[in-house]
Amino acid sequence: MTFTFRGLAAAGALIATGLPASAQTEVKIGYALAPDSHYGVAAKTFEEVLLAETGDQFTFTHFPSSGLGGEREVIEGLQLGTIEVTIVSSGTLANFVPDTGVFDIPFLFRDLDHARAVLDGPIGQDILAKFDNVGLHGLAWGEQGFRHITNNRNPIHTPADAEGLKIRTMENPVHLAAFNAMGAAPTPMAWPEVISSLQQGVIDGQENPLSVIVSVKLNEVQEYLTLSGHVYSPAMLLVSKPFWEGLDDSQKAAFETAAKAGVQAMRGYVDTVETTGVETLKERGMKVNELSVEEKAKFQEAIASAYEGYYETYDKGLVNAIVDFE
Ligand code: PAF
Repeated sequence: MTFTFRGLAAAGALIATGLPASAQTEVKIGYALAPDSHYGVAAKTFEEVLLAETGDQFTFTHFPSSGLGGEREVIEGLQLGTIEVTIVSSGTLANFVPDTGVFDIPFLFRDLDHARAVLDGPIGQDILAKFDNVGLHGLAWGEQGFRHITNNRNPIHTPADAEGLKIRTMENPVHLAAFNAMGAAPTPMAWPEVISSLQQGVIDGQENPLSVIVSVKLNEVQEYLTLSGHVYSPAMLLVSKPFWEGLDDSQKAAFETAAKAGVQAMRGYVDTVETTGVETLKERGMKVNELSVEEKAKFQEAIASAYEGYYETYDKGLVNAIVDFE
């Protein structure tokens, strides 16, 4: 049906203009992970819904697996208007809209439902709207899940086990402060360098949600997985502001509809991997331990000093409003 309709639409354009219907706009979409990851699934759904809504107006070119560079470079490409769309983690977003970093505070969210409600509610939507001030347009919040620690040195049960651990963090001051307070030796690093740095022993470990650990097959370069769930990892579907401003109202509405469907697919993927991921990684040979409530409390105590810094940057009232959000 779709094919026939689109074929007719193209033929109509040919008759009307006498030219091939070539006025399609290319949408280059870049993301750090593979086509079968939560980002890939979201990008594909986004494309399908957008094309269904708009007919032949757009064509998509996907650049998965950091094909356009690290997340910071891709966001800069959006600002310049050389890349149209991306799906990114909150890793570098605070470098563009500092308020975003509030969501990177460890142990802030109780569970996925809590995080989703905050991001889709007024607090999350206010912060999303701020991207319009920096050459970007935030379409919707997605997510990766809760982040966990992997490493090649030893199992981690207490902060002492993480003492001096050379752990890669995202280029994110909130995460960096937490790992410093814990006594680890964090190294901020762009994602495209992580796998080779793990292989070469430049770093002992990294931290990411199950969605990433499973889809990237981090088990091939990491022995231990500690289910620390130390921080929630939001993601965002972002559009270039120069590109956004060139769209008409109906196209903008179609992008919004497609983005909602895309992040819904991303959350669906995360729901699945949160329940099946640990088993998959054990089958692939990873040694897995989950922090008990008491062990988690020790990590919270260990990073208490980082919170003083967070409250200098982020309003304590806002942090409390997030924690208490129902
Ligand atoms: O660790 C990161 O940098 C991010 O979680 C990743 C893997 C690039 C996905 O956005």
